[in-house]
Amino acid sequence: DEENVGNVKKLLARVFELSLQATVPDETDVEPIVTASTVGRFGDYQCNNAMGLFSKLKGKGGGQFRGPPAVGQAIMKNLPQTEMIESCSVAGPGFVNVVLSNKWMAKSILKMLLDGIDTWAPKLSIKRAVVDFSSPNIAKEMHVGHLRSTIIGDTIARMLEFSHVDVLRRNHVGDWGTQFGMLIEHLFEKFPNIEAVNETAIGDLQAFYKASKQRFDDDSEFKERAQKAVVRLQGGEKRYRDAWAQICAISRREFDSVYKRLKVELEEKGESFYNPFIPSVIEGLTNQGLVEESEGARVIFLEGFNIPLIVVKSDGGYNYASTDLTALWYRLNEEKAEWIIYVTDVGQQQHFEMVFKAAKIAGWLPTEANKYPRTSHVGFGLVLGEDGKRFRTRSTEVVRLVDLLDEAKSRSKAVLEEREKDKDWTKEEIDQTAEAVGYGAVKYADLKNNRLTNYTFNFDQMLSDKGNTAVYLLYAHARICSIIRKSGKDVEELKKTGVLSLEHQDERVLGLHLLRFSEIVEEACTNLLPNILCEYLYNLSENFSKFYSNCQVIGSAEETSRLLLCEATAMVMRKCFFLLGITPVYKI
Ligand code: ARG
Repeated sequence: DEENVGNVKKLLARVFELSLQATVPDETDVEPIVTASTVGRFGDYQCNNAMGLFSKLKGKGGGQFRGPPAVGQAIMKNLPQTEMIESCSVAGPGFVNVVLSNKWMAKSILKMLLDGIDTWAPKLSIKRAVVDFSSPNIAKEMHVGHLRSTIIGDTIARMLEFSHVDVLRRNHVGDWGTQFGMLIEHLFEKFPNIEAVNETAIGDLQAFYKASKQRFDDDSEFKERAQKAVVRLQGGEKRYRDAWAQICAISRREFDSVYKRLKVELEEKGESFYNPFIPSVIEGLTNQGLVEESEGARVIFLEGFNIPLIVVKSDGGYNYASTDLTALWYRLNEEKAEWIIYVTDVGQQQHFEMVFKAAKIAGWLPTEANKYPRTSHVGFGLVLGEDGKRFRTRSTEVVRLVDLLDEAKSRSKAVLEEREKDKDWTKEEIDQTAEAVGYGAVKYADLKNNRLTNYTFNFDQMLSDKGNTAVYLLYAHARICSIIRKSGKDVEELKKTGVLSLEHQDERVLGLHLLRFSEIVEEACTNLLPNILCEYLYNLSENFSKFYSNCQVIGSAEETSRLLLCEATAMVMRKCFFLLGITPVYKI
């Protein structure tokens, strides 16, 4: 089965499918249920069809089996010959336990070493996805929530891309809306000669935002002008469009510097992009009879929600929901995306549920869950400070992202300089390693938690070299690389000529874990849960440690095989780092 060459679970499911067909030839729609065993004692994988199948047959009056265990026995007996399986047994109410063949496992790992880890990429059924992430707002601060969105969204995009999905990485920047009225008016006030305005003249855009807001709140005449400015901007008046573009450009440069550091790629299609399409989308929904008048606004009433979705405000303007409905329409119809994923804090969950529901009623999306095209909201919790409250720094109300990244880097640099005092590292090496470790630590500390939970931002914890941290993992990888270097062997040569075997128990446990890579990435990706991949990576390095402390590598009779196992571990670790957006290091 070339299609799923790396996915053991799917390969086994194919084998069990054949067995099920032989066991119950009259049943046409029995999907094999194969899972990895949680308790390794009985086997590596198991097939869990017996119970369900037994009750199904019983319901039809069929009595060819005495009970679920008998069904399990039959499934086991009917398994076709395969080199994958060493032995099988039936346990409890008919679970068929499978012990994989050591020889097959070793052969599969060696094949991956030769053909590359990309041959273990999951195969998904969709061709194109949109990941809408990061999405900060112009002139407002890019806060830690946007950092979470950026990190989580990037990982999801990377996992999909690895799985051969064409991903449109969308930065849905908040670049439209009423706040621009006051920003533009304030700009005109401060700089009557608008042509002379540049980035340095405006200075800190957040401070500029605050000052405009102050004017807006204090002066009713200004407020009125600001409100008119919104209309003139939306009407496309040149002077207003130019001022708007100028403000956006300044924000954009700030955002881009964060993306560059984090090595995150995004394509900006801000709210303003969808603006020209809004009227026709609302008209379409109106023609379908979905839009109603309510207190002067135009709304869509949705079953299961106690508020309606406002699509045109009472002043005739459009809002966040009008834009999101239109963006969804555009992504489905113009961009032909099959899966559209939105990464924002959980606070926006209801907004997205309502937009998705409206799209279903309008017939844009199938109503069945898990059918494509589909939409998903990837929500995440808050970042907390040590005090258990929303993360803030002493001096400012908000945490500037760049400062966070700077601090992570300088802290890890200090540690490195201390450690490496007597080594011969170049300045560049220290700098690059400090960056990989510092930024990696920030990313990993975020990704390792289930995204829905709040997490506490703590430099000491995330930069510790013990426990489940990026530092520990990066060092573990570097250590493996140094083992290989120290052997003096050419691994590329070993891959071609060497043999791999998994005789020792700890070699086998490590090998099995390596072989689970593909199914884990698929699980993390399809469930939109990066923490599953983090857990896998952490366990991989634990399994490696155990192997390394119990199995001598260099100078042993099994040296070649064990070096290959080291290399396979390093390759899988690197791919995990890559998928998590972390840069690996090779030296410690
Ligand atoms: N700009 C919004 C915010 O900062 C996030 C936008 C998310 N994407 C979307 N299509 N609504 O909260």
